[in-house]
Amino acid sequence: MRYRTIKTEILVIGAGGAGLRAAIEAKKSGLEIILLGKEVLGCAHTGMAMGGMNAAMVLPATPGFHAKITLEGGYFINNYKLVNIFTEEIPARIHDLENYGVIFDRVDSGEFYTWAGPKQKYPLNICVGDYTGREMMQGLVDQARKIGIKYSDEFFISRLLKKDNCIIGAIGINLKTSDFVVFQTKAIILATGGAGRMYEVTTNAASNTGDGYAMALDVGAELIDMEMVQFHPTGMAYPPSSRGVLVTEKTRSHGGILRNQKGERFMSKYYPIEMEVAKRDEVSRSIFQEVAAGLGTKNHAVYLHVNHWSKEKILEIIPDVYEQYINVGVDISKEPMEVYPSMHHIMGGIKINQWAQSNIQGLYACCEVASGIHGANRLGGNSIAEGQVFGRRAGMDATKYVKKIKYSTLSRENIQKEIARINQYVKNTKGIPPQEIEDQLKKVMWNKVGIFRDEKRLKEAKIIVSKLLREAKNMRARTNIRQRNRDLQDCLEVNNMLQTAQVVIEAALLRKESRGAHSRTDFPEMKDEWEKNIMVKKEGEKIVTKAIPVVK
Ligand code: FUM
Repeated sequence: MRYRTIKTEILVIGAGGAGLRAAIEAKKSGLEIILLGKEVLGCAHTGMAMGGMNAAMVLPATPGFHAKITLEGGYFINNYKLVNIFTEEIPARIHDLENYGVIFDRVDSGEFYTWAGPKQKYPLNICVGDYTGREMMQGLVDQARKIGIKYSDEFFISRLLKKDNCIIGAIGINLKTSDFVVFQTKAIILATGGAGRMYEVTTNAASNTGDGYAMALDVGAELIDMEMVQFHPTGMAYPPSSRGVLVTEKTRSHGGILRNQKGERFMSKYYPIEMEVAKRDEVSRSIFQEVAAGLGTKNHAVYLHVNHWSKEKILEIIPDVYEQYINVGVDISKEPMEVYPSMHHIMGGIKINQWAQSNIQGLYACCEVASGIHGANRLGGNSIAEGQVFGRRAGMDATKYVKKIKYSTLSRENIQKEIARINQYVKNTKGIPPQEIEDQLKKVMWNKVGIFRDEKRLKEAKIIVSKLLREAKNMRARTNIRQRNRDLQDCLEVNNMLQTAQVVIEAALLRKESRGAHSRTDFPEMKDEWEKNIMVKKEGEKIVTKAIPVVK
């Protein structure tokens, strides 16, 4: 089978906030770099971020305070070194974004407008309305265009190529034509985001299908904290077409009130001091329990009220949320929203050091596909911020690394093997459509690997996912390969989601305690002996898990 080979010193995979930031940094070196995205430039998941980004820009907030609450919020299994770097460096990265043209909200005195999310005694969240991600992407894309970064849209990398313990290339398809392309490269920066799409209800964009986790596992990278899956407390619950869509935390942090079907402000039962501004894992569990106790609405939800705010305040603080609900016929200045938790973020990911290096030479990872900053529960505002700090660091270090090494010859045999794997989906005329497997995966993850877990359901999930993995070998893409082939993309993505689900379940089975986002009803207490990270990696088809010490 024919393929085109492209040589580039550094390949950045994923064109959200972190990938763009990595590419912008790497480009400064003058080296040949290519940025690839599954979507059209500017349309990555980062653009859906609403509430803002945390940075100690306005006193009394300091980087030390930011680090402290990030560690407390993460239940102390964060990588302390990475947290300190992150909180020290993020203010400078905010100024970079301003230089790229992002205009953050400011108050009359000229200072940044800041708001306080959970645990923020001193406000840290800076924002652009409730569409911070969109504005940030605009600035980053403008900058990338200005400095001439080579970008290829709608590209799907399906496998990384390595020799000994070094990255040497990658292979994938151009989604517009389904043509195979091989990249010969010295370093790869993964910025592929998360895997929200493996859950039935998620705030995530369609592109978040665990591609980075699956590719990294395939080349032997170590991942940590994969059991730590965050459910944002407030996703839209109704109508079904909008289920899961994010309703920003900025709503509750500015006085939004949660009530059950009886009109009771139920957070007083669970977290009477913090109320609606308790941590995400806490509010999500409270809503889950309230609905499970039969106190939810008929749409399996609770109410979120801002109808005690003036319309002016609503339009100033949460204009996008207002729009989201108006579009489905609900005027939130007059009636409450119906909300329910929605899978939002994976705290775990590729284990990285301070330069975003993985354990595979030349393989870097940043933002959601990486791990370490958030521990067992991420604070709102720390994700798109993290991507700016570690995207830049990955870009900086990769340029130094590639100058020291030579290109390696790619194995034709490995390339043809991958091409044959992909082509098989097209040849399987009698196979299963990928959407059928995906639907089953979403259900099992939502029902058995959700907000509350236990050994029985996790083991059931493990069996079902193993069965789906076997069946997935026989998926079929129903159209011809020499054109855009959405089914083929689905086959590849479903496979990646299954690989990701498998390691989430294995890690969740191993952690026999409750901590942050990982709530085991059979082990309800948090235990000191589990103040550890769970490392997971693949040795061939075998998944290896191990509890390892936290980096302090
Ligand atoms: O609620 C939000 O606006 C989400 C922010 C985040 O996840 O960082």
